[in-house]
Amino acid sequence: MLLFFLLFLTATAANSLFVHPRPLPPSPSPRTRPERIFLLAGQSNMAGRGGVVNDSSTGWVQTWDGVVPLECSPNPSILRLAANLTWVEAREPLHADIDTNNTNGIGPGMAFANAVLGRDRSLGSVGLVPCAIGGTRISEWERGTFLYDQLIKRARAATNEGATIRALLWYQGESDAVEKSDAVQYKGRLEKFFSDVRTDLQWPELPIFQVAIASGQGPFTDTVRKVQLGLDLPNVRTVDAKGLPLGPDWLHLTTPAQVRLGQMLTDAFLQSMSRAA
Ligand SMILES: *[C@@H]1O[C@H](CO)[C@@H](O)[C@H](O)[C@H]1NC(C)=O
Ligand SMILES: *[C@@H]1O[C@H](CO)[C@@H](O)[C@H](O)[C@H]1NC(C)=O
Ligand SMILES: *[C@@H]1O[C@H](CO)[C@@H](O)[C@H](O)[C@H]1NC(C)=O
Repeated sequence: MLLFFLLFLTATAANSLFVHPRPLPPSPSPRTRPERIFLLAGQSNMAGRGGVVNDSSTGWVQTWDGVVPLECSPNPSILRLAANLTWVEAREPLHADIDTNNTNGIGPGMAFANAVLGRDRSLGSVGLVPCAIGGTRISEWERGTFLYDQLIKRARAATNEGATIRALLWYQGESDAVEKSDAVQYKGRLEKFFSDVRTDLQWPELPIFQVAIASGQGPFTDTVRKVQLGLDLPNVRTVDAKGLPLGPDWLHLTTPAQVRLGQMLTDAFLQSMSRAA
């Protein structure tokens, strides 16, 4: 008995000599891929022109004033799919490497992502997929076009590691207010676009949050708005930008207006989630 006890002590002591160092707790690794994906598409007001000014010091070339409000600050939990399909920390202007023929400023994307994270941490990290291009009509987003293909390609790249798309945020229509033929065909083209995106992303109920335009580039703004506000498709919700402050061109939302729009989109998104739950 004593022998066994001694053996036991010896074994325990020996064992304690070989105690392995406790593994270090996992270091907080930088988030390299996001969990919740939001697609951003449409034209200039989605790409962002907040803070874009005609600068006399640069010979009236358009420049961005560089002002980033707190609501649009970078956040380690907000990533952006760069043009080369890699994830980078999101920073304004979100569309700088996407809408490359234009000067980009503040859009609604960062304000939206920060507000969503601020109000619902359980959502996890956010991945923004900018796809908007200034001055584009809805016919340029038809299935088979360059813009449509880019949107689907980028959406697939964003989700190829198992992340889920939470919504498409869509702000477009100003350019369809110029020609009557575009304005009267807007409803059919918009519905087809939403339906094609849902088919090609294999998610018939993909939540879509569209913005009813605050301004237009021509006389048919109200025709386009009427289509947007009257759209009756399942899981498509409309946020109305009319009344938000516009810049001196009377076309583009100012930076504070974009911050407000980001928060309105957040309200609509969180409301739809609580209804779905
Ligand atoms: C992709 O683009 C991002 C942002 O412009 C850049 O930081 C990164 O180095 C690029 N990655 C590759 C593999 O080119
Ligand atoms: C930029 O403009 C050129 C010439 O009009 C066009 O071919 C190209 O597709 C445009 N690129 C983007 C990203 O809009
Ligand atoms: C800048 O100047 C151009 C040409 O005069 C004008 O069309 C545009 O609306 C101006 N943009 C702003 C933001 O003032």
